[in-house]
This record gives sequence, C-alpha cells and structure tokens, in this order.
Amino acid sequence: MGIFNAQSEGITMSGGGLYSLATVGAKHVIDAATPLVLDAINALPESSLKTGFTLSDMGCADAGTSLSMITSAIETVNQRVPDLPVSIVYTDQPRNDFNALITNVYGLGPFETYLDDRKNIFPLVSGTSFYRQIIPAESLNIGFSATAMHWLSQKVCNISNHVQAVGAKGEELQVFRQQAHKDWRQILIHRARELKPGGKLVLINFGTDEQGRYLGNTGGVNMFDTFNQIWQSFVDDKRVSQEEYQNMTLPQYYNSVEEFSAPLLKSDEAVYQAGLRLDHIDTRIVKCPYAEDFKLHGDSIRFAREYIPTIRSWNESIFFNGLSSDRPLKERRELIEDYYGTYRTMVENNPEGHGMDYVHAYTIISKVE
Ligand SMILES: C[S@@+](CC[C@H](N)C(=O)[O-])C[C@H]1O[C@@H](n2cnc3c(N)ncnc32)[C@H](O)[C@@H]1O
Repeated sequence: MGIFNAQSEGITMSGGGLYSLATVGAKHVIDAATPLVLDAINALPESSLKTGFTLSDMGCADAGTSLSMITSAIETVNQRVPDLPVSIVYTDQPRNDFNALITNVYGLGPFETYLDDRKNIFPLVSGTSFYRQIIPAESLNIGFSATAMHWLSQKVCNISNHVQAVGAKGEELQVFRQQAHKDWRQILIHRARELKPGGKLVLINFGTDEQGRYLGNTGGVNMFDTFNQIWQSFVDDKRVSQEEYQNMTLPQYYNSVEEFSAPLLKSDEAVYQAGLRLDHIDTRIVKCPYAEDFKLHGDSIRFAREYIPTIRSWNESIFFNGLSSDRPLKERRELIEDYYGTYRTMVENNPEGHGMDYVHAYTIISKVE
C-alpha cells in the first residue's frame, strides 16, 4: 500500500522505500536504457574526463530503481580511466523521501550498494528541481533522468472533464501543451549550462508514440480513463464535489517525438544556440510486469493486489491533495482507500486489458565540444 505523507503538497512518490519496491516496471525501463548510458560514457571526449566524472540522476525518487544502472556506469568509467573520481548526484524535489534514498544508496535496505566495489565514488544528494540549475556550470558528464520530466513545473489549469491532459480538449489542452513546451526548454537550457563540452544527456521520458500510445494506453483498457471514470462515479454519488474532482488534475504532459525534438533541431531555438544537439530519439514500450505475470498465473485477485500499488505509488498524493482540506483527515484517507479499493475490485472482477505498459521516448543529447 502507498504510504502518504500528509504534510506534503503536490507530488510525492510513496515514501519509506516503498517506491522502488512497488515499481519494478520503472526499474525495467532503466535497465533497458542502461546500454545507452554506457555507450554515452564511452563516447565522452577524453578531455572531459581529466578532472573526474559526474553523473546526475534527476528525479531519482528513492534511487532503488537506478542502482544497477549506476553500478554499470561506474564500472564503465573505471574501464576508461581506472580509479577516476566519480560523483553521482542524486536529485529530486525537496519533499522527496531522501531518507529512503540514503538507505538504498548506502546498502542499509533491501538493495546492494555499489559503494563497496571501489574507492573514489562520491554519492551526493540535491533537492533542487530539474527546472533549475542543479550543479555548477560545465561540471556534468552525463545527465540521466527516467520517468520524471512529464511532471510539469506547475498545474496551469484544472481540466474540467478528465484528470490528465490525455483527456483534455480545446483551450485546456492548449494551455497544457504551451506549458510543456516552455518546461521542456527550461529543463534543457539548465542542462546545457551544467554539461561539460561533449557531455551527454540520456533522458528517458514518458511520451506519446507515433501511434498515439502512452502510459497505460497501448490497446487494452485505458488506465487514465479508468482513473477518471472512478472519480466521476464518486462525483455522481456526491461523495466528492465537482471542485475536488477538478483539483485532482495531474500536472503532467506527454510530449510527442516532434515536441521532444524541436528545440534540439532548429537553429533559432535558444536550446540549440546553447549547444545542445539531438543524437538519437526513439520510442519504446516496456510491458506492465504485473499484467505479464497475470498472463502466466491467471489469478485476478493477485493481479489486482500487485497492480494497484504501482499506480498508487505515483498518483495518490495528487488525488489526496485534490480533496478539500475542510474534510477531516480521516475522511480524506477513507475516500482514498475507497478509490483504490474500487479500482482493485474492478480489476479483480474483470482483469482483461488492465495494465500499465510504459511508453517512453529514449533521447540522447550532446553538448557541442
Ligand atoms: C516516477 S518517479 C521516477 C523515479 C526514478 N527516476 C525511476 O525511474 O524509477 C518520478 C520522480 O520525479 C520527481 N520529480 C517530479 N518533478 C520533479 C522536479 N521538478 N525536479 C526533480 N524531481 C522531480 C518526483 O518527485 C519523483 O521522485
């Protein structure tokens, strides 16, 4: 079950180290991206490795999902330059559960740490948003991020008929699109400053693919429509107000390949002028591990029990914060329990087509030398 930090506002992943345990799919995504990171390290200019190597993991949550990738990255750097000092800068929002991160990185929890493998490895932690510059200019070799930059810098408006921009229409959709356009450029401009000449970004972002597919919408039941349908049924039953429902709008946007690529291809774009170039972009689907398991075991109760926490790990805080603070905390918690309980029953009774396949754009970007 997701643990909710009642003091938080906006988005937080499940705390207490539950994020990585509940989201094995996110780890599969990072594992699939690892060869891209290793290739990027091998392609770095010799000159950029003179004073040490720095990799940032932006939007790292509790860092459990990227441990294997970072272990391989350190190994690859060491093969290029034995014993080169390596700094791993873990970054997330200030309200992230950094205690869980420390537990995972230092091997105090369920995962093995890479820290015992070698000397000269320096994990560093930052609560600076990726919408700002995180580390000093020209100090970064590899900027990595997985499954994080779809979170917009702000919620530009509530969506009147849905909980996510994938269901928005007309002016509301336009407003989200414009914010995403601005935000993506802001993310890139800051990275352009941080990167050493010849440095690279490996950014694995949720997106909309060439066939219009996106997270949880790859041919089966549309996950976001299900989120919406259940909250709308709560409105119909007068369990939550229309205002609360609208406040639940998720501040996210899924860029298309064209939207991701534009600032890196056009010479009149500030990002291009700052020296960033697109090396590669493709879209990939990583299947929902819980739905895949269900195909093998066929137990819908187990499927629902395993699948709902992965959804809950990333959207509970938004939905909770949408509920009126005039309601006693206990009542808000009960509504949230009922919401996910309703979803779970839905999957138990009719499991076919449910699942959260991941749809990502895998983007490699270089800073000119
Ligand atoms: C779904 S988790 C992904 C965690 C990990 N990268 C992975 O792939 O398993 C998204 C993370 O992005 C973080 N995040 C969202 N907006 C952010 C921002 N503006 N700056 C830094 N981190 C942010 C969230 O706090 C959360 O930890």
